[in-house]
This record gives sequence, C-alpha cells and structure tokens, in this order.
Amino acid sequence: MPQNLLSTKDVTRADFEVLCEQAEALRQNPNEPAQIDTTQQGGLLFFESSTRTRIGFETAAWKLGIKTVSIYETKHNDTMSAAESLPDTIRTLNPYVSFFCIRHSDEDVFNQVLPYTSHPVVNCGNGAQEHPTQALIDGYTILNRFGSMDGLNITLTGALRHSRAARSLLALLSNFEGVKVSGFAEPTLDFSEEDVRRFVKNGNEYQHVTSPDWGSTQVIYSAGFPPKTPSGEYSQTVRDTYKITREIADELGDGIIMNPLPRIDEIDPDVDDTPQAHYFQQNENGLYMRMAVVSRYCLKT
Ligand code: CP
Repeated sequence: MPQNLLSTKDVTRADFEVLCEQAEALRQNPNEPAQIDTTQQGGLLFFESSTRTRIGFETAAWKLGIKTVSIYETKHNDTMSAAESLPDTIRTLNPYVSFFCIRHSDEDVFNQVLPYTSHPVVNCGNGAQEHPTQALIDGYTILNRFGSMDGLNITLTGALRHSRAARSLLALLSNFEGVKVSGFAEPTLDFSEEDVRRFVKNGNEYQHVTSPDWGSTQVIYSAGFPPKTPSGEYSQTVRDTYKITREIADELGDGIIMNPLPRIDEIDPDVDDTPQAHYFQQNENGLYMRMAVVSRYCLKT
C-alpha cells in the first residue's frame, strides 16, 4: 500500500529491515523486471539544489520502468510579482503524476503540500529537519558492513544540530539496542536535547566528546557543515578541528568513514584511497535503497 515517507521517526526497525532486504535484492539483480504498473509517474520537486537525491530518485524510478518529471526551482519569471505558491504548484502537477519526491528549505513544507494531494509523498530533505531516505541509505551501508546496528560504537561529527542527515540517522539508530553514539562537535553544534532524548532508549547511550577514542570507533559519520544555519558560516578553525584525516583513518582499523556528500573539506582527500573510506560506496547504495523506497512507498503493484 503506497504511503508517505516524511520522517525517519515513522520508520520502524521492521520497516528498515524489509527495505534493506529489498535494496540488497535489487543490488544482486538490478535488471530483474519488477511486477509494477509502469504507467505510474513520479514528480520530483526540488526547490533546493541536489545532486545525489534528485538524480538518485530519477535513476531509481527509471530503472524500475517509471517515468519522472522534475522541477528544480519555484516558478518565477519577469511577468510575475512573486513566485508561484507551493499549494498552486502541487495542485497543478497533481493530475500529472502518481507520487511526489520533494526537497524544500522550509521545515513546514509538508503541512502546505498534504492538503492538496492524496498521492504518496517522499521527504527528500526539509530544511535542517529531516532527510529520511539519506538515513535509510546510511543505515543500509552500516548494516552491509557490520551485519547489525545493535551494539555499535558510532561517532558523529560536524554541525550535528543543523544537519538533517545526522539528525535523521540518530532517529533511525533509536530503533536499535545498545548503540553508543559519541557527538564530536562544538558544544553549540551538538544535537539538541530533544534529539538525544529520543535516541536514548533500548540501552542506547549518547555522550558529547572532545577527544574521540578512534580505536574503539566502528563508524565515523562526518556530517559536514551545512552552509545555511542560524549561526552563519563556520570558522576555518572549527572546520579544521573536526576534519577527518588519514591519521584518523589509520587509527580506525576495521571501522568505516561515512559522509552523506557533498564532501567539502570535512574529510581530507588523502582518506579516499584508504579501506576505511566508505562514502562513495554509501552513495552507490543510495540507488538500490531509493529503488526500494520508490517500490515500497510510492507505487501501486
Ligand atoms: N546527500 C545529499 O542529500 O546530497 P544532495 O544534496 O546532492 O542530494
């Protein structure tokens, strides 16, 4: 039954495991024809720039035999005094498509969208709030490497409070047991108390750290420094303090280094050819997880 995917908080452990199984089956047999009605059509509405999520959903849909239409900006030309409203855009496209994948800078975007469509809607990033499909990709990457997320030691670093990818991953991890998360971030950029409170259950632990023990870390998740935040830009000193270097990769041993991409300067390019670097594998996993998301949430079979 198609349904919305608006928040990682709505994804149960069972949902996640089914999606990972489906993604893995698609990885093994990407060209196996799916039993779906290919007359369905996706509307990809990206009101904020995106490379991976937009192209990822477009490619995922096409591989499933589903056509897509896209818009990349709010319609606004010289004859208009302001951009078209979001409700009007949704009402215009609603008869043309059978599901929507939407990215918008406004955290409240889905309250404006849902009254005007009964089609499934996938959240592809709403401000600093959520990026649930990125969390699914990240969880799938961790599961592929370690077989389970229970009991892992994970260090998240960067502007955690403002990173929708980091916040959604923490929400996904709350479904697991005995996970130890260390937040390596400026105190003002650490997760909010509310985000931490939601995660700390099932024996999960959260600690703020200033000097991580890389040797006991299994996953480094470098979330980077999103450019648009209430606190503005970050100093080079802050960026350098949380940069992942080759020395850290060496200390990590069998652990992995992840990043939702785009990577700016938060991971030194010297790390790219180490066995710990997993961010391009993580990106490739996105194709199969997005195929699973389109199949499961968006399409009538
Ligand atoms: N990780 C991610 O969301 O990348 P894009 O902004 O390129 O979609």
